[in-house]
Amino acid sequence: RKLDNVTVVVLGASGDLAKRKIYPALFSLYQEGLKPKTWTIIGYARSELSDEDLKKRVTPFMPKPDGRDRSSSNSVPPSPNSTGPKKKEEPLTLEQKLEKFFEDCHYVQGSYDEQQDYERLNKEIEKYEEGKKSNRLFYLSLPPNVFLDAANNLGEFCKTKSGGWNRIVIEKPFGRDLASFQELSEGLNKSFNSHEIYRIDHFVGKEVVQNLNVLRFANVIFDPLWHRSNIKCVQIIFKEQLGVEGRGGYFDHYGMIRDVVQNHLMQILCLVCMEPPVSLSPEDINAEKIKLLKAISKIDKEDFVIGQYRAKNISGKEYPGYLDDETVDNNSITETFAACVLKIKNRRWDGVPILMKAGKALDEKVLEVRIQFKDVPGNLYTEHKVSPNELVIRIQPDEAIYFKIMNKIPGYTDRLTESLLDFTYKDQKKSINIPEAYARLMCDVLIGNENNFISEEELSLSWKIFDPVLEQMEKLHMTPEPYAFGSRGPVEADYLAARHGVKWSETEK
Ligand code: BG6
Repeated sequence: RKLDNVTVVVLGASGDLAKRKIYPALFSLYQEGLKPKTWTIIGYARSELSDEDLKKRVTPFMPKPDGRDRSSSNSVPPSPNSTGPKKKEEPLTLEQKLEKFFEDCHYVQGSYDEQQDYERLNKEIEKYEEGKKSNRLFYLSLPPNVFLDAANNLGEFCKTKSGGWNRIVIEKPFGRDLASFQELSEGLNKSFNSHEIYRIDHFVGKEVVQNLNVLRFANVIFDPLWHRSNIKCVQIIFKEQLGVEGRGGYFDHYGMIRDVVQNHLMQILCLVCMEPPVSLSPEDINAEKIKLLKAISKIDKEDFVIGQYRAKNISGKEYPGYLDDETVDNNSITETFAACVLKIKNRRWDGVPILMKAGKALDEKVLEVRIQFKDVPGNLYTEHKVSPNELVIRIQPDEAIYFKIMNKIPGYTDRLTESLLDFTYKDQKKSINIPEAYARLMCDVLIGNENNFISEEELSLSWKIFDPVLEQMEKLHMTPEPYAFGSRGPVEADYLAARHGVKWSETEK
């Protein structure tokens, strides 16, 4: 049954996230034919803007007809000249689709804390709903200091009473520590019930992350391998090449551990390491994630290496250091790099180091999970270099899953070589259409699929793991190790791995 009559309210519509991610995600649903039968999208923010102004702001971030329009280049519609059984209508051009999409987009100006502004917003929503039974999705693309004001006002003045559903989407930062997270949760729970709250983690919406359960639980071959008896270590690596680039205002207050490790990487860790759930229901998956989080041992500052990037001249171009950024405090000791080792105390993982690394201004852009297997027992090929097997799950860029195995070099030789059993997504199907993480998750919110969202308990347990060590670091004013822009990060991360008897893998070029 096709969903009908939905109002999507984007709070913070004039901001960066809304322009870059939310509106393009909504457009992508429109393009893919996944939007509700009828919808209205209302942008809400403090800036004085007209509908037309908002459109102008958002348009530069929409697909371009130069090949970046994913729908025409990859998936959709059959050419009008095709000789299929049914003649299809002439497909709309990208410009026409955008025009049509924007016909449903409107803008309302208002503050985040004034009751009368929300009453006005509610009236505006009602105007488009024309008295029908309708559903409301509120997307909070807002700075954390106005989260609660907005949520409470929405809860009080803007929920539909027509018999349809109300859903609110919130996004990181979910607090800055356990106490602020709990405060946020308590506030939110006053206005929305647990099935109305969708805590989004966009890493979970990435295609390969979506494949983790399938890889693990729909393939028998991985089942016996996924165990401490075979696995030497697990590595979750997130590297970016860009620095903060003027986004330091937010980042400087949080740092890499809070920005990426405590949430995004922990979500991936849960999916890689949890036990098979009883079913694929959100409750059963959540139950396994919770059990895993509870089994993670307390971490100390010795289990961490933190770093901060410094300016570097690369091929004649000067790349500024973190402290050179105008939006960053000159004396900041916020980390732009973090590496840590976690231990999971359960039957499957006891003794297996779980390494996580996240950093900005590094040598490459990559997000991957690497499962390093143990050395071959009783190795017969003592004259040769026998590398341990490794399963690589590359989430971005160039989605891929590959197994590194030893092979004989073909021909009159007995030498060995490392080869790849390779599933690179883009090689498999020419017309593969990988949805953007935000579009996929937005679609889930619309259909009420709670599977890919983060529960309050998961976040609370994750904070319990990181809170003590973050507090310890803050108290001690732990200074990050400097590393050069564009480098591998501080060498101390290598020593950290070595202390646990393992080595960071290098991404294959
Ligand atoms: C965000 C972080 O959640 O994820 C950013 O706040 C980071 O610091 C971003 O750059 C990375 O996401 P993606 O999907 O662009 O790799």
